[in-house]
Amino acid sequence: MRTDIDSFWIFALASKCRVFTQENIAWPLLIMGLAWIATTLIYWAYPGGPAWGKYKLKNTSFTISKPIPGPRGLPLIGAMRLMTSLAHHKIAAAAAACKARRLMAFSLGDTRVIVTCNPDVAKEILNSSVFADRPVKESAYSLMFNRAIGFAPYGVYWRTLRKIASTHLFCPKQIKTAASQRRRIASEMVSMFNGHEGSSFTVRGILKRASLNNMMCSVFGREYELDSCNSEVEELRALVDEGYDLLGTLNWTDHLPWLADFDPQKIRFRCSNLVPKVNRFVSRILAEHRAQAGKETPDFVDVLLSLQGHDKLSDSDMIAVLWEMIFRGTDTVAVLMEWILARMVLHAGVLSKVHDELDKVVGRSRAVAESDITAMVYLQAAVKEVLRLHPPGPLLSWARLAITDTTIDGYHVPKGTTAMVNMWAISRDPKSWEDPLEFMPERFVTKKGEPEFSVLGSDLRLAPFGSGRRTCPGKDIGLNYGDLLGCVTTSRV
Ligand code: HEM
Repeated sequence: MRTDIDSFWIFALASKCRVFTQENIAWPLLIMGLAWIATTLIYWAYPGGPAWGKYKLKNTSFTISKPIPGPRGLPLIGAMRLMTSLAHHKIAAAAAACKARRLMAFSLGDTRVIVTCNPDVAKEILNSSVFADRPVKESAYSLMFNRAIGFAPYGVYWRTLRKIASTHLFCPKQIKTAASQRRRIASEMVSMFNGHEGSSFTVRGILKRASLNNMMCSVFGREYELDSCNSEVEELRALVDEGYDLLGTLNWTDHLPWLADFDPQKIRFRCSNLVPKVNRFVSRILAEHRAQAGKETPDFVDVLLSLQGHDKLSDSDMIAVLWEMIFRGTDTVAVLMEWILARMVLHAGVLSKVHDELDKVVGRSRAVAESDITAMVYLQAAVKEVLRLHPPGPLLSWARLAITDTTIDGYHVPKGTTAMVNMWAISRDPKSWEDPLEFMPERFVTKKGEPEFSVLGSDLRLAPFGSGRRTCPGKDIGLNYGDLLGCVTTSRV
């Protein structure tokens, strides 16, 4: 039998051979090390940092175009620090420091990024067909989001999903049908707030549950009472929270491929724990819906199950789509509602104007209904002002990806570059907004004959739902809920 001692002859021979002496190995290693350090520093020295430098040196055609200004960050990792907590603040500060508010370049490890704090450049990016794709992070892949609308590559599958969702979930008829459900949930919220009078409680917890119940009802057809504990809701809440945390964390392996095998932040590990739980949860709901086929009022699950022909989705695709709807529709709406309440509490004058409007439009003899909101111009203006100061996705949630080489604001932007829009900075820019830090709903109250300011993506000075092909399909649901909540919770019920 061969032993380890038998193979020692190889080392003995090597030690006699001059080629492998310590000095001879050390020199090439030293030279390689120095060459590596020099290349790393050359890449890093380019405006925008290492990812931009690497691209420039590897693509000679890029040399003729002027570089996009931006911070270099650190060698190898670039400006990763910009994407840690309150990224929109840090990006805005870096753009001001580099005089690059229109367009700034930076590197997240090997990833080239551009970001704008300017409405015209934002329009150029979001409305361009070149930026109709999204960069898919490892966590998004692991959590199946590449098969859902938000991260699906731009193409036939994405178009099919958007068509199905806009016909059956986001259409005006469906949103109107769900008005009574929103009304019920809003009243339950008011009762819960009133029930806690005199004692302290966490408003955010109630808002998140209310928003989850709303999505559970619209998507899964499930109705829950807000004030009673339900294991199914608790389970889903935990899954959504974990998913949010995973998707929101800056995953170093997305940008530093040489780290991929190590999973240093345990994101892959946590995703692989979460996915079977989501699969079990949604599969159970699919199975229950299959068992009760032919319901009088079909929900979104029934609609997906009934699709035939080209539109028919596999079970795993349906799970991805349904999970995404619950996921996307929950926290965004809860954040908006929380800011509406906070601003109403902070600005007694605004609250009293909403009350006056409520008395005028609804009176005191009946409860407010969603159909009243069209006539409540001041309340709508207050919700817009909340969206301006506190957009729920300050960097417009998920970024965009350049499908081909393109030109933005006169600069060459190569294929594969990630693009972001800092909506938080745009909607607080003194060039677009007078006294931008003041909470003044009046700025959105239009005089007779003047066009209303739309927040749905046509004017990029305030587009909290994004714009262009990949604009938020749930914006009407989000806005209706925001308006109704503002109305009900500030009423004197
Ligand atoms: C206040 C509420 C909401 C806000 C502020 C919001 C904001 C956004 C933003 C900024 C985007 C990216 C748009 C872009 O890239 O141009 C987005 C995408 C998306 N949102 Fe919303 N959203 C809200 C509510 C909802 C709801 C209620 C749903 C679903 C039930 C939803 C589903 C989606 C989906 C599926 C996408 C991806 C669209 C695509 O990539 O084609 N959102 N949302």
